[in-house]
Amino acid sequence: MKILGCLFDLDGVIVDTAKHHYFAWKSLADKLAIPFTELENESLKGLSRLDSLECILRSGNLEVSSKTKIELMEKKNQLYLQIVDSLGPDDVLPGVKELMLELRNKGIGICLGSSSKNASSILKSIGLFDLFDGIVDGNHLTLSKPDPEMFIKCSKILGLTPSVCMVFEDAESGIEAALSGGFFALGIGAVGSLKRAHANVQDLDHMTLKKLQGLVDSHESN
Ligand code: BG6
Ligand code: MG
Repeated sequence: MKILGCLFDLDGVIVDTAKHHYFAWKSLADKLAIPFTELENESLKGLSRLDSLECILRSGNLEVSSKTKIELMEKKNQLYLQIVDSLGPDDVLPGVKELMLELRNKGIGICLGSSSKNASSILKSIGLFDLFDGIVDGNHLTLSKPDPEMFIKCSKILGLTPSVCMVFEDAESGIEAALSGGFFALGIGAVGSLKRAHANVQDLDHMTLKKLQGLVDSHESN
């Protein structure tokens, strides 16, 4: 397949905010006396705020009302927003902006597919908002990753079929969403970590369209 569209996750792919989500959830879990480790956090990556909270509550066998859930999510988000308030253009992960500029120059469609309701404001803070042809985030969704709905919406915005789009993801839930939607799934993270991805790279430093196409071609020839 020839890549015509690139669909980017935000947290952990464009900017290193995955660690801030963990810190904020950990602080909430501590207050609720629910054990919560970095390893457990891995399975929350990519999930919506509500899905994440419900996983944490389940792991602590804690049942709370819908009203309390809203209050807990609000608390977590306030802490998260305090942390990300200082983000700026220097926080864009290495290679991301350069790759996006190259993709734009070459006419490749670019869309954001993030479960975060804070995605647009973070993209504005780090100065990348205007580089996207479309943005689908946690405010537009009914089903969160691993459901493919988000990436399907992205490909529709770009006017492309999933079969010509590459998804950039650091989360297992996002890789599953990409696979079940019929996209090419590129895992971003320690090589060998996202085993279900079609291809896996450590990060996007020095990434180019030619290298991305090479990953697709070598996957297809295997
Ligand atoms: C995803 C993150 O991008 O967004 C999750 O991987 C996070 O960790 C989710 O919970 C929702 O984010 P927010 O900003 O709406 O709470
Ligand atoms: Mg992510």
